[in-house]
Amino acid sequence: MAAAALLLVAALVALGSGHGGEAFDPNPLQDFCVADATSKVRVNGLSCKDPAAVVSDDFFFAGADKLRDEVSERYGFSALTVQIPGLNTQGQRYARVDLAPGAIFPPHYHPRAAETALVLEGSVYFGFVSSYPDNKLFSKVLHKGDVFAVPQGLMHFLYNNGTAPATLYASLSSQNPGLVLLADALFAGALPDDLLAKTLLTDKHTVDNIRANFRPS
Ligand SMILES: *[C@@H]1O[C@H](CO)[C@@H](O)[C@H](O)[C@H]1NC(C)=O
Repeated sequence: MAAAALLLVAALVALGSGHGGEAFDPNPLQDFCVADATSKVRVNGLSCKDPAAVVSDDFFFAGADKLRDEVSERYGFSALTVQIPGLNTQGQRYARVDLAPGAIFPPHYHPRAAETALVLEGSVYFGFVSSYPDNKLFSKVLHKGDVFAVPQGLMHFLYNNGTAPATLYASLSSQNPGLVLLADALFAGALPDDLLAKTLLTDKHTVDNIRANFRPS
């Protein structure tokens, strides 16, 4: 009994420490490791440019005031990654996200990052859902100047159900947050129709109808 309790404590301590899992990006071992885009060496992150060659521009990005012109045809959002070579190995990523009126950023999650988003313009309905079995929805209608936070790995979405364009600045707590779009994960890949039908408690015909919209055209 005592031994079992001790084991449980040890397991909880191990879980809480954040080591041994993939919960957080590793800590940097130097002031900076500016990404060397030309290097073919693969490390955990991109390999570092010679520190003597690092300049202020390596920590700079211009153009976050303009939305990316490439818009998701399906969903009407656009996302501009703020590319800063000096952020390599720093465990962060930033993006400007724009949503036209009526547009969504559909339900998705980032396996390796928590997220906060600041509304720069417009308003947006933003929410996340806690894990099974609660599946509890936490959501807010955000306006200019509001910030909302999404815990790591939880499914979240954005919906511009207003009449003006919305712009957000999103901060993610990993250099490589990962993106799992739930609908794509289910319907764009090669999962067998009968498995999907059973999963969704429906029939193969319904699954085929949905899947037709997800096939690359
Ligand atoms: C957007 O949707 C949310 C949640 O349903 C709702 O509370 C809000 O009033 C809606 N906003 C508009 C402008 O309809």
